[in-house]
Amino acid sequence: MADRKLRIGMLGYGTVGSGAYRMLVDNQASIQAKTGTHIEVVRIGIKDSTKPRDLSADIFTTDLDSIVNDPDIDTVVELIGGTDPACRLVETALVNGKNVVTANKEMMAKHGSRLVHLAKAKRLDLHYEAAVGGGIPLIQPLKHQLAGNDVLKMMGILNGTTNYILTEMQQEGADFAEVLAEAQAKGYAEADPTNDVDGFDTMYKISVLASIAFGRQVSISDVYREGIRRISRTDMKYADMLGYTIKLLGICEPVADRVRVRVHPTFLSKTHPLASVNGVYNGLWINGDFVGDVMFSGRGAGSDPTASAVVGDLIDVARNTAIGGPGSALPYDADMPTESIDSLKSRYYIRLRSYDRPLVLGKIATAMGEHGVSIAAMEMKTLILHEQGEIVFLTDYARESDFANAVKSLTDEVGVISVESTIRVEA
Ligand SMILES: NC(=O)c1ccc[n+]([C@@H]2O[C@H](COP(=O)([O-])OP(=O)(O)OC[C@H]3O[C@@H](n4cnc5c(N)ncnc54)[C@H](OP(=O)(O)O)[C@@H]3O)[C@@H](O)[C@H]2O)c1
Repeated sequence: MADRKLRIGMLGYGTVGSGAYRMLVDNQASIQAKTGTHIEVVRIGIKDSTKPRDLSADIFTTDLDSIVNDPDIDTVVELIGGTDPACRLVETALVNGKNVVTANKEMMAKHGSRLVHLAKAKRLDLHYEAAVGGGIPLIQPLKHQLAGNDVLKMMGILNGTTNYILTEMQQEGADFAEVLAEAQAKGYAEADPTNDVDGFDTMYKISVLASIAFGRQVSISDVYREGIRRISRTDMKYADMLGYTIKLLGICEPVADRVRVRVHPTFLSKTHPLASVNGVYNGLWINGDFVGDVMFSGRGAGSDPTASAVVGDLIDVARNTAIGGPGSALPYDADMPTESIDSLKSRYYIRLRSYDRPLVLGKIATAMGEHGVSIAAMEMKTLILHEQGEIVFLTDYARESDFANAVKSLTDEVGVISVESTIRVEA
């Protein structure tokens, strides 16, 4: 029987908090056998004391400061979310000498550098495996096993809600608004879906991963971000016909001594390992200079998978505490120099409506060519209305800023009625 104890103060008892508590209780014997430590949640902070709970009322408090200031608590698990009061409470816990485990991507994306420096100065653990990819181990492998590599590119499906919506659109031939409403009815999407569908959640997560991979904090204001609201079932249909699927990707890549980080819907080749990550599943593909391609996938959210990551972090804390070793917070400085999306060289998908007249295709190709954008495949031309056509094509590699100018040149003069959609392509 172990005689060591790790006394936990938990902030939040919602989806993740209640799952982590249950896992610690259900698997207590095996966790104790593996760590030699009895990990016990002694206090839980919540907001609404009138909500019915499945635990005795004695363990709960609405005074969260009393937890982070309690000298009998060794480790604080922050599962509130957002930055206020979460960040202030985590800082106080660290200042008071407590290890911290958190699942909070927004806090880590905005204040990670400051918090990990504080943890290091105090020789404490600060773990946040659950902040990105829920139950999939991503942060520890990037920090440790893959750390000897120079990361050449990293692409992730990091938001289950948007991946569910895009998968349904693809498989059912449905439109965005229809699938979103259905996802909201099933509880897969929030009533206000902005955080997910406009790419904020993916932006927080890819900026956390990029900060670890490249060793300095990527400011979220430097992350290019586009969501999935404008993706239509027509684009899905063409993607499928051309051998692609559409995914919301967080992408980061080094550009000389900078890093470019972007979030946008992407035409992704069906042969890419991420293309088969469907529904609410998440995936991360990393290309490292020595390891080559590595792929992670699994459940990126939900009570049990996220609890698995939180409890894994607590086991790390228990083991570090047992050997009296320093914390394993990995400090990274702020202000990673970043590269704008304007210099990106990408291939693009374009769908447009044009007049169905002779020479239109040639005029479009010439207009694009004048801006340095050549057409790799002019795939379809369908009559949709009298004397109007729908043209879809993929470009060769072109610079983002040249492509933007080329799109602007697709006017009435060259026979284009409207540019309906443009989406970046990844092989
Ligand atoms: N849900 C997931 O699948 C998932 C996956 C990965 C990461 N995460 C992250 O995990 C964290 C928790 O998410 P969740 O889904 O568990 O959230 P949740 O279900 O909304 O639970 C939040 C908990 O925090 C408490 N809380 C919120 N604001 C508070 C305040 N100002 N003072 C005191 N208590 C407060 C709530 O109290 P009441 O119970 O009184 O309302 C509730 O117990 C977030 O950072 C989230 O991004 C979640």
